[in-house]
Amino acid sequence: MRYLTMTCLLLGICLGAGAQVQVKHLRCEDLIDPLGLGEFHPRLSWQLQGPAQGLMQTAYELRVGAWSSGRVASDASVGVRYAGPALEAGHAYTWQVRVWDNQGHVSPWSSIATWRMGLTDWKARWIVPGFEDTVGSPCPYFRKDFSLHKKIKSAVLFITAHGLYEAHINGARVGDAFLAPGWTSYKHRLAYQAYDVKDLLHDGDNDLGAVLGNGWYRGFIGYAWNKEVYGHDIALLAQLDITFVDGSTSVFATDASWQSSTGNILSSEIYNGETADERLAPANWVGVVEKDYDKSNLIWTENQPIRKHETFNVVHSITTPKGEKVFDFGQNLVGWVVLKVRGNAGDTIRLSHAEVLDKEGNFYTDNLRGAKAQDTYILRGGSEETLEPHFTFHGFRYIRFDKGDTRPEDVQAVALYSDMPKTGTWACSDTLLNQLQHNIQWGQRGNFLDVPTDCPQRDERLGWTGDAQVFSRTATFNMDVHDFFSKWLKDVSADQLPNGIIPCVIPNVTDCDFGSAGWADCATIIPWNMYLAYGDTSILRNQYSSMKAWVDHIRSVSTNDLWNKGDHFGDWLFFRPWDDNSGMSAVTDKYYIAQCFYIHSCDLLVHAAQVLGFSADVASYSSLLARIKAAFLREYVTPSGRLVSSTQTAYVLALQFDILPDSLRPRAVDLLVANVHTYGDHLTTGFLGASYLCPVLSRFGHTDLAYTLLQQETYPSWLYPVTKGATTIWERWDGIRTDGSLETPTMNSFNHYAYGAIGDWMYRVISGIDTYEDGPGYRHIRIQPHPGGRLTHAEATYETAYGVVYSGWSLSGRAVTMHVRIPANTRATVFVPGAASPVEVGSGEYTFEGSL
Ligand code: BGC
Repeated sequence: MRYLTMTCLLLGICLGAGAQVQVKHLRCEDLIDPLGLGEFHPRLSWQLQGPAQGLMQTAYELRVGAWSSGRVASDASVGVRYAGPALEAGHAYTWQVRVWDNQGHVSPWSSIATWRMGLTDWKARWIVPGFEDTVGSPCPYFRKDFSLHKKIKSAVLFITAHGLYEAHINGARVGDAFLAPGWTSYKHRLAYQAYDVKDLLHDGDNDLGAVLGNGWYRGFIGYAWNKEVYGHDIALLAQLDITFVDGSTSVFATDASWQSSTGNILSSEIYNGETADERLAPANWVGVVEKDYDKSNLIWTENQPIRKHETFNVVHSITTPKGEKVFDFGQNLVGWVVLKVRGNAGDTIRLSHAEVLDKEGNFYTDNLRGAKAQDTYILRGGSEETLEPHFTFHGFRYIRFDKGDTRPEDVQAVALYSDMPKTGTWACSDTLLNQLQHNIQWGQRGNFLDVPTDCPQRDERLGWTGDAQVFSRTATFNMDVHDFFSKWLKDVSADQLPNGIIPCVIPNVTDCDFGSAGWADCATIIPWNMYLAYGDTSILRNQYSSMKAWVDHIRSVSTNDLWNKGDHFGDWLFFRPWDDNSGMSAVTDKYYIAQCFYIHSCDLLVHAAQVLGFSADVASYSSLLARIKAAFLREYVTPSGRLVSSTQTAYVLALQFDILPDSLRPRAVDLLVANVHTYGDHLTTGFLGASYLCPVLSRFGHTDLAYTLLQQETYPSWLYPVTKGATTIWERWDGIRTDGSLETPTMNSFNHYAYGAIGDWMYRVISGIDTYEDGPGYRHIRIQPHPGGRLTHAEATYETAYGVVYSGWSLSGRAVTMHVRIPANTRATVFVPGAASPVEVGSGEYTFEGSL
């Protein structure tokens, strides 16, 4: 093995030789220049950039307003807690950093970043319309007129709603967030948003207003079509705080002086879509009613809002065999369609949304179940109108015009999802795998809509805990999901039942609350995955009592250390031939699975207790762990090492969770490999086994077989849907069957990210980018690519909190060339194929030569 050092060769991002260290990419609570911060000791992070290899920070100085930390001898550059004077609600702060490095340089001061604290003292009162308003009524509008006659220094609108809101000032939309205030466990936690609106105000008369939709608060939600889950009334809470250049202030807040009306939006429901009559505008304003609703549940918005992202033009205009006019956007996405139309007043356009065409090529909506997913517009007439909905979203690739129509060039689909920074790219020499990666990323985009949802199209769209759990590690590679999951996990805690059970969906809007194995374990698995990916102990600290309550719950319902009762989803959607005379169905005993997850959750609790220094818990839960592993061996393993269920999932869980003693592992691995061969090198796993199958095979020396499974093109496999034209991950391995027919419409989503959990293996094993637990959050990076399968090259980039990691390899015969990039202020252990031992490196760009 030979390795060369190459600076500035690969990614074209570098400073000129001799340039000294610089500080970039300042984040406060992982956000750039946040407004409305509710954390009074915020975590501050920055990145070092410089041409030197092995660049490390040795000290930093923080300046926040007039306060300086002084020179702090520390290598911490991620998640440094602000420790200056007490921060004041509503105030804006500027901050800068400079660092000293291990090469004897001090950086210039970084450019200035900002944050503004949120509100703690609301002057605003909750208001509801002054007329009868209920589910099914047109969306209510609110407004307040006021005059301004002084020069404005700053103007911030703090706003939230029961329901969804869109705010306007002087006719212009406030901000670019959609479906605000997002979805949380509203009774406990309702987020408000803060917007800088200075530029929307002017001297003289102004008006501030908002329109509300039912959203998750009051509209139909859950497969049982519950409504008014959180309350009967939708309501507005808004406060505009203005500071003038002369130092005086004004507040315009919702109260009895506001007015209400209805306007163009006749109905809007998440599942059913929206109907708007553009001939109508708010008129005949009447008063409002103040309400004494709770404000103690108000929280700042710690995660990125839902914003608009990619747009898609029509790629095919189709007339189906049924004679219907259908447009194809070429990508299954989540969002809505924007139309530009010109017509007569009263003309109606109605469009329906669908993910697929059926075998005959007809528009297919049966799999949406009860969700109508239709948007209807009645035109104002005259000039061109731009039409789009406000308080709904659809999962679709195709639209059909049910009434009226437009030209394809007047139609655009726009994707909406939480605005998490994109962090990862992955590509290789196999175009099918590249499409799989594309599908994984689009599965994530479509289902990370403030809450991690199972699917975005049918009458479900819920925060199913198991789906989120299996996909969470993969999610960290594609996007920065720190804030997204930090927020959602607080809802997990908020909705956890007093007995420790985690309901099936979070926020909890169903009566499904039995704490299923592999689903409720999101309480332990996701915090741990976030800790590994971001090195942030505060997520573990925040979740610790919830993690512990969940493990304690399992213990409380166990008998003789076995979790052997209760309802469980099991290895959901495992391989099961429809005429199973051969006994090939891959059924894994549900209580076997439950015991595996009991062990795993307990193990992660011990790990978290170790990180947080809770030594008494480390001792007590370690002894519980030993007992429940012993109980597993007694109950589920034969003396010769066979497992009670002879399925891939059974072997994978026992091996992944370190349940089997060393002596039994080789046999279990052999049986797993044999099992895969029995199915002609196909997977048979459901939701719980699929994410661990390739990692376990790799860990125990069978990466070759893992590749065979990954590159398998026939059903059941990850690539089978790709060969059928999938542009997202499907709920089922055979959403479209081999004969072209569609699986049962009652459960056949074409945008369900769970099986996309293979993405984790693609980044961590094929490209070999991982973090060590002794330096979580990629402080200590592991680079260990595994060339294999039919690939001749693969590469991945991953933006960690410290900067970009790159790992790419290519093969020429049996010779491997590896390119690696490591960010400043981290170190990496690099395993080069064929090398006797790994190489330790610091930041920089490197080329290594190895061999298979
Ligand atoms: C959802 C799943 C979920 C499951 C529970 C389904 O209806 O779509 O993804 O995990 O129920 O097994």
